[in-house]
Amino acid sequence: MAQEKFDNNYHQNSSLRSKVNDLFNPYNFNAKPFLKWAGGKTQLINVFRSFYPEALTEGKITDYFEPFLGSGAVFFDIAQKYSIQRAYLYDINKDLILTYLVIQQRVGILIEFLKVIEKEYLKLDDSQRTSYYYRQRDNFNSQKAQMDYSQFSDNWIHRAALFIFLNRTCYNGLYRVNSEGNFNSPVGKYKNPSICDEDNLLAVSKVLAIAELKMGDFSTILSDLKNKNSSFVYFDPPYRPISKTSNFTNYNGNRFDDKQQKLLSAVFSALDKSGVFVMLSNSDPKNTNPNDTFFDDLYKDYNIFRVPAKRIINSVASKRGLINEIIVTNYQNSQWKKALKEIKQVMF
Ligand SMILES: C[S@@+](CC[C@H](N)C(=O)[O-])C[C@H]1O[C@@H](n2cnc3c(N)ncnc32)[C@H](O)[C@@H]1O
Repeated sequence: MAQEKFDNNYHQNSSLRSKVNDLFNPYNFNAKPFLKWAGGKTQLINVFRSFYPEALTEGKITDYFEPFLGSGAVFFDIAQKYSIQRAYLYDINKDLILTYLVIQQRVGILIEFLKVIEKEYLKLDDSQRTSYYYRQRDNFNSQKAQMDYSQFSDNWIHRAALFIFLNRTCYNGLYRVNSEGNFNSPVGKYKNPSICDEDNLLAVSKVLAIAELKMGDFSTILSDLKNKNSSFVYFDPPYRPISKTSNFTNYNGNRFDDKQQKLLSAVFSALDKSGVFVMLSNSDPKNTNPNDTFFDDLYKDYNIFRVPAKRIINSVASKRGLINEIIVTNYQNSQWKKALKEIKQVMF
């Protein structure tokens, strides 16, 4: 209940403010994330805004970096609200970045492909849709062996269309691969899935005009950083599992374990030392184990905030509750106190 009240209040005020601002904002194309993605940040954007560096709102940030891009909710917010000049976007998932590159460079043909798929799919009944989904999933997997990810080519466009189709129609938009690297998420149950959102894809393509997209590890940032004092980096790594029983986060066959989290914190410190503004988020391990100080220890030299993220739905009443998200920053911001007070007032 408290969470609902918080969401509603926060949403109403901020979305009204944003709508008025957006009317006068030349960077706003109304582009939204075009994928469903595990750990997507759309629900948290209103809260996150209070934690962005003030240099961003003051127009002093020229370069934005998001090394764990996923569906890019924070990128779409920042690129359309503030006057950044360049965005550097990375993800280890090659097919994800391939899809962004196709939208950036060949959105018109991609839309034609998606329209055909959407038309074919929507006229089928449930069982035909299921067979269609698994046929396209097989095509996607067998196509992989022929893919050259190092060079843009026409077969990227078909692959991007399949990637979007599978994402919109699979179970919960879950991107899961087996030990051979083959995509193996089961079919989802949607009555009327939006497979080709033409207006949004065109808007996304426009926003991506300022972006440099790379298939790669988060450490790529160290070689790309040029304007240190006017750069802002947002890290949203795969979540550390919140309970011993929950599945280990596994994206693209890549385990993001505690060793990786520690390497990331070393990159965070290196960026901090060179004058870059850095923000990181993760789910709070204290949600399930109050004694787990993993992130408190790792980021003890920085500001750590805990903000309510979502409710845990559990059949056992005692296990229901709020999940906190951790936000770490290396800079001060006068908005925090106000934001945290607002959150507390509603929560407690
Ligand atoms: C929590 S998701 C990011 C979600 C994103 N903020 C959003 O709004 O959708 C984490 C992302 O990190 C990517 N990833 C995993 N390991 C990585 C690595 N070592 N380097 C770069 N990206 C990685 C995954 O493919 C996934 O897309």
